[in-house]
Amino acid sequence: MLKKILIPIAISFAFPNFLIGQGMWLPMDLVNQEVNMISKGMKMSASDIYTANRGSLKDAIVHFGGFCTGEIISSKGLVLTNHHCGYSAIQKHSSIENDYLKNGFWAESMGDEKPNEGLYVDFIISIEDVSDRIFPLILNGLTEKQAVDSLLKSNPTSGESIRVAIKSIYYGNQFIQIISQRFSDVRLVGAPPSAVGKFGADTDNWVWPRHTGDFSMFRVYTAPDGSPSDYSPENIPLVSNNPLTISLAGVKEGDFSMIYGFPGRTTSYLPVSEVVQQVDVMLPIKVQLREIVLNTWDSAMRVNPMVKIQYASKYASVSNGWKKWIGQMEGMTASHGIDTLKMRQKKVIKYHSANHENAFRAVDLVDEFDKQISSLENSRKSIIYFQEILRNWELLTWSRLANDLVRLSDKGNNIDKAIRALQSFEKNYDLELDRRASKNLVNEWINAGKEDTLLNVPIQYLKETDAFVRGLFSPHLYNSLPLNSNKYSDTIVVELCRNHLAFNLWTDLITKYRSVFLESRNKERLFESGMKEWMNLHMSAARASGKILSADANSTMRVSFGEVGGFSPKDGATYNHRTTTDGILNKYIPGDYEFDLPQGFRSKLESRDFGEYADFDGKLPVCILSANHTSGGNSGSPALNSKGELIGLNFDRVWEGTMSDFYFTPERCRNIMVDVRYIMWVVDKYAGASRLIKEMKFAN
Ligand code: ARG
Ligand code: ASP
Repeated sequence: MLKKILIPIAISFAFPNFLIGQGMWLPMDLVNQEVNMISKGMKMSASDIYTANRGSLKDAIVHFGGFCTGEIISSKGLVLTNHHCGYSAIQKHSSIENDYLKNGFWAESMGDEKPNEGLYVDFIISIEDVSDRIFPLILNGLTEKQAVDSLLKSNPTSGESIRVAIKSIYYGNQFIQIISQRFSDVRLVGAPPSAVGKFGADTDNWVWPRHTGDFSMFRVYTAPDGSPSDYSPENIPLVSNNPLTISLAGVKEGDFSMIYGFPGRTTSYLPVSEVVQQVDVMLPIKVQLREIVLNTWDSAMRVNPMVKIQYASKYASVSNGWKKWIGQMEGMTASHGIDTLKMRQKKVIKYHSANHENAFRAVDLVDEFDKQISSLENSRKSIIYFQEILRNWELLTWSRLANDLVRLSDKGNNIDKAIRALQSFEKNYDLELDRRASKNLVNEWINAGKEDTLLNVPIQYLKETDAFVRGLFSPHLYNSLPLNSNKYSDTIVVELCRNHLAFNLWTDLITKYRSVFLESRNKERLFESGMKEWMNLHMSAARASGKILSADANSTMRVSFGEVGGFSPKDGATYNHRTTTDGILNKYIPGDYEFDLPQGFRSKLESRDFGEYADFDGKLPVCILSANHTSGGNSGSPALNSKGELIGLNFDRVWEGTMSDFYFTPERCRNIMVDVRYIMWVVDKYAGASRLIKEMKFAN
C-alpha cells in the first residue's frame, strides 16, 4: 500500500530530462529507443540498424585493430577510418625517402595496397543478453569470472576466426555474449598528407572550429574462398554484401544523426566523491607528468626532422590524453557538472528512501563510498605515477622488449617477432632525447616521493641507479644500448641485451608496481561490488519513472544518436555546426609544422572546383558538429543520417565537452566529424583516386 502511494510521488521528482542525449546504446536494445529516435527524425527501424541474422547496418561496422572503429564503404571490402587510427600503419611504411605521413599515399591498384602485420578488423555477428544463463551459475556459488568461463566453455560456436566473448555491463548487473569474426589481412589503401589528415595537429586537437581531414582507407582481404586469413599474396578483397551508402546531400542544423562504433570507456554513474577525486586529484597529476615529457620532446621535434618522424606518433598519443584531461577539468567546472551529479545522486537516494524495502541502502552506500574513496586516494595516486613512468620512460620499453627476447631465446622458442619488435622500437628511438625527458620525469617522481612517503616511490632503488637520473653516467648507460640489432646476428643481440646495465629495469619496476597495485586490489574490489549495487539502485530509480539508462561504454558495439548542431561555448559566443575550406586557407601558415599546406593542395582549394561535393552555398564543408554521446574508441565511427547513409566520419569531441566521459550535457558536449563530402573531394579531386570512388555506392 505504502509503495503504491509513494511511487507516483517518486516519478514527479526522479529523473527529469537531464539524461537527454546521453547514451551509448547496445544495438540490440535500440528497439526501446525506436520511438524516441523516430521522433528525432529517424526514418528507419531499429532492425535496420541491428539484426543478428539478416542484413543490417551493423554488417558494415568493424572494430579496427581493437582501438578504433571503421566502416565498409564498398562491396570490395574498402574500409574508411581516421588518419590517426591508421597513423602507425602509415608511419611504419614511411621513411625519409618515402614519407607517406608527409606526402600521403594512394595505392595505384590493388596490387599496391600495403599489408600491415598485426592489424585486424572484427565484424560483429551477434550480441545477445546471456544474463539468465550467468546469474544461476553465480547463485550456485561460482564467481563472475568462473560463471563466464564455464558458459564460454560450453559454447560450440568458437572456431578459428570466430570469437566468442562474454562481457559484463552495468557493473555486473547484466551479461552479454558477443560473437565476432576476425580478419587479419588488412592493407593500407590510401591516406592524405598529414597537412590534410592531421591539419592543425596538436594545437587544433580537441578544438572547434576544426579543419582536419582525419581519414584514411584500408581494405580487408580474405582467402580465395572468402574465409579470414593472415596475409598471403593469393588473398582476394573481401566481398561485402552490405557496404554503407554515401550521401552527398549534406546536413543542416537539427538533422538527425547517429554514431555507430566501439566507444572505449565512460563512467557516467560514479558516486560524486569519486568524480571529485578523479577530477581534482588524479587528472592534475597526470597532466603535470605528461607536460614534462611533451615539453622535452617538442623542443627536439621542432628542430630535427628525423626526430619529428620518429616521435610524431608517440607525441600525438601522449599529448592527446594530456589535452583531454585539461579540457575535462575545465569543462567540469564551467558546466557545474559536479552540482548536477550531486543532484542526480540525491535523487537516487531520495527515491530509495521513499521505497520501503531499500530505505537506507542508497544513503548507506554513498557513505561507504565516501570512506572507501578517501582511503584509496594514496594508492591510486601512487599507481598513476607508476603508470605514467612505465609508459613514457622509453628506456623501460627497451628493457621490456629486451626481456621478451631473452626469455624466448632461453626457452629455445622462435625469436623473429621479438627481434622485429625491438627493431621497430629502435627505428623510433632517440636515446639522447629519452635521456633528457626521463631524467626530468624520474626526478619529478622522486621529489613527489620525498614529499609524500605514501606514494611508494622506490627512492632507494632509484638512488642506486641515481647515476642516470642525475645524468652522470647516464650518457654512457644510454649510449651503450645495443640499438643496432639489424647489424648483428640474433644470438649476439640476445647476449648484448642480457648484459646491458638497463636490462633489469623493466622487471624491477613492474614488480614494484604490481605490489602497489595488489595492495589496493581488495579495497578496489569492495568498491566495485558497491558499484554493482549502486548501478542497480540507479537503474531501478530510473525505471520507476519509465527511463532506461544506457550502460557505460566498455569497448562493445554501441549506437548513440542526437542532432546536428552548434552550441554556445561561453556567454556571448556561438559555434556553427559546420566549417568550410575557407577556414583551412585562413589557418594556413607557410612553413609551420602544424598549419602548412602543400602547394598543390592549396591551389586546388583556391580554384574552388568543388563540383558535386559543394554545399548549398557553393562552399565545401570540412567538419561538422553533432550532439552524439561518444568517447575514445569512437574514432573512425560512421556518422549516419536518418536513413542510415554515411554523412561523416567521427574523429573527436569539442574540448568544452570532453568531460562527457563523466558527465554528458547536450548544452556543450559535441562530437566532431569530417563531412563525407570533404573526404570524397580529397579522394576524387585531390588524390585523383577515381578507382576508389567507382567502387562506392552513392545515394541518389
Ligand atoms: N582527440 C582525438 C582522439 O582522441 C584525435 C587524436 C589524434 N590527433 C592528435 N593530434 N593527437 O583520438
Ligand atoms: N579521438 C577519439 C578516438 O580516437 C574520440 C574521442 O575521444 O572523442 O577514439
